[in-house]
Amino acid sequence: MTKSTLFVATGAALSLIILVAANPAPAAGDPRAKARIRAVLARTCLGSTWRMQNVPPDDGRLLRVLAAAFKSKRALEIGTSNGCSGLWIALGLLETGGTLVTLEIDPRRVALARKNFQAAGVFHRVRVIQGDALATLKGLSGPFDFVFIDADKSQYGRYLELIYPKLAPGGVILAHNVVDMAHELRGFFKKLKKYPDLVTVIARERGSGISLTYRLKRPGTTR
Ligand SMILES: C[S@@+](CC[C@H](N)C(=O)[O-])C[C@H]1O[C@@H](n2cnc3c(N)ncnc32)[C@H](O)[C@@H]1O
Repeated sequence: MTKSTLFVATGAALSLIILVAANPAPAAGDPRAKARIRAVLARTCLGSTWRMQNVPPDDGRLLRVLAAAFKSKRALEIGTSNGCSGLWIALGLLETGGTLVTLEIDPRRVALARKNFQAAGVFHRVRVIQGDALATLKGLSGPFDFVFIDADKSQYGRYLELIYPKLAPGGVILAHNVVDMAHELRGFFKKLKKYPDLVTVIARERGSGISLTYRLKRPGTTR
């Protein structure tokens, strides 16, 4: 390397450091952290979101409230798209200090999601894994205390089988589209009944519908 290229390289590295230092991710309790996520949600997720198949804002708010209420420390999402539901979950995780692993098969959507998580200042608490969730889930180690399923409807039953061993007692699985795509999810609901320590309710019976499945801490006590 010549002296001049060394200067250029050092200069570029310095600018990068200055750029990162000027725009660091705010700490969880910092109100700017919430504002930064909200800004990306408003810009990217609250308009016409049908192309990216994003959850509607009411469902997003439910994700946020439940991630916080369940005091989630390790959340998992299947079906990232461009990261909108992940951003709602991240809002909840600001209160708990938790992290999110989110799985997406489409590389273009993975790139968009990473960009959105970066812009929202939550890149350090969200890990996006590209690939078929059916394969990725096998290699993931648990436990997870909050799971959101929103990918291929015909595979919800299979996702459940792979998630169950990694779901913490006291943890919760939310599944999207259980009302508007109910016919495709019959197998999923049949499978849920096979686990004696899982209790399921339909938390949102309107719109797309979300089911909420709680894993009992003391199996056999309430079901
Ligand atoms: C309904 S969209 C997810 C929307 C997202 N949860 C949101 O609200 O912003 C479903 C996503 O699941 C992804 N997907 C479908 N099958 C998948 C699979 N086998 N593994 C991982 N991702 C998958 C699709 O590419 C799509 O982006």
